[in-house]
Amino acid sequence: GATLKAAAERSGRYFGAAMGGDRLNDAGFLAIANREFDMMTAVNEMKPDATEPNRGQFDFRAGDAIYTWATQHGMRVRGHTLAWHAQQPRFWAGLSGSALRTAMIDHINGVMTHYRGKLAYWDVVNEAFAENGSRRSSNLQSTGNDWIEVAFRAARAADPGVKLCYNDYNIENWTYAKTQGVYAMIRDFKARGVPVDCVGLQTHFTGGSSLPGTFQQTLSSFAALGVDVALTEADVTNAAAGQYQGLTQACMNVPRCVGITTWGIRDSDSWRGNESPLLFDRNSNPKPAYTSVLNAL
Ligand code: XIL
Repeated sequence: GATLKAAAERSGRYFGAAMGGDRLNDAGFLAIANREFDMMTAVNEMKPDATEPNRGQFDFRAGDAIYTWATQHGMRVRGHTLAWHAQQPRFWAGLSGSALRTAMIDHINGVMTHYRGKLAYWDVVNEAFAENGSRRSSNLQSTGNDWIEVAFRAARAADPGVKLCYNDYNIENWTYAKTQGVYAMIRDFKARGVPVDCVGLQTHFTGGSSLPGTFQQTLSSFAALGVDVALTEADVTNAAAGQYQGLTQACMNVPRCVGITTWGIRDSDSWRGNESPLLFDRNSNPKPAYTSVLNAL
């Protein structure tokens, strides 16, 4: 019958999910993943704290387990993430300035070399902007405003074949200051030849906030800069079917919107506690939002 991945593939797109390593022992999860999805993201296992617990000592076991399962089941994999203010290696806390900058570059080189040629996308930098559209303050930002472009240049050199993404949340509404801040950075990067290939919009819709009417305009505006766009971590409070339909439709209306990922599969997989924000319920049954997404693909 019809599945999310089959429907997405009709237009050359993918339909993805995120999984934690614990789900590798969850037959119910794996069955839906295998049936419905053709792209996988590791929830935590490819983050900096997971892959480089001690300086220069990389640990890819958890990330590789997800990568291996996904690719053995015909999926591609999005790498998430290399440079972020959160979930950093503990040793980064003791570093600043050029020492932290060097540690970031070494981390990018170490992780991307391991996965070279294997991944479809990397979220090179995650969540670097504040709500007011300026740079979020962080230890990485304190190393100098050029830390993001340095990260992207290092990433391109480490694995020239993978698409390099900037990923953030609350950048779905075109009129929002944060969206404009990210847009200005991507425009500047494209103008100066900084290697960025895609923008990931996390698409966490919370607390009854409605789908911004400008969402499609945001996607098409980024795309017009010459980058792909993707919905990378979608979840919606109570899985409002109309919002899921709208975010899917927005992606479908923008040729450079390459795919949609939900942050988990069943409500029991979600990081958002009891908000029931995903397409499948705790008993693995598809919810009304599943049907509205499927019909919009
Ligand atoms: C979340 C995970 O789902 C949690 O398990 C973890 O405790 C915190 O991170 N934006 C992101 C994701 O880019 O990496 C976050 O994932 C959710 C918000």
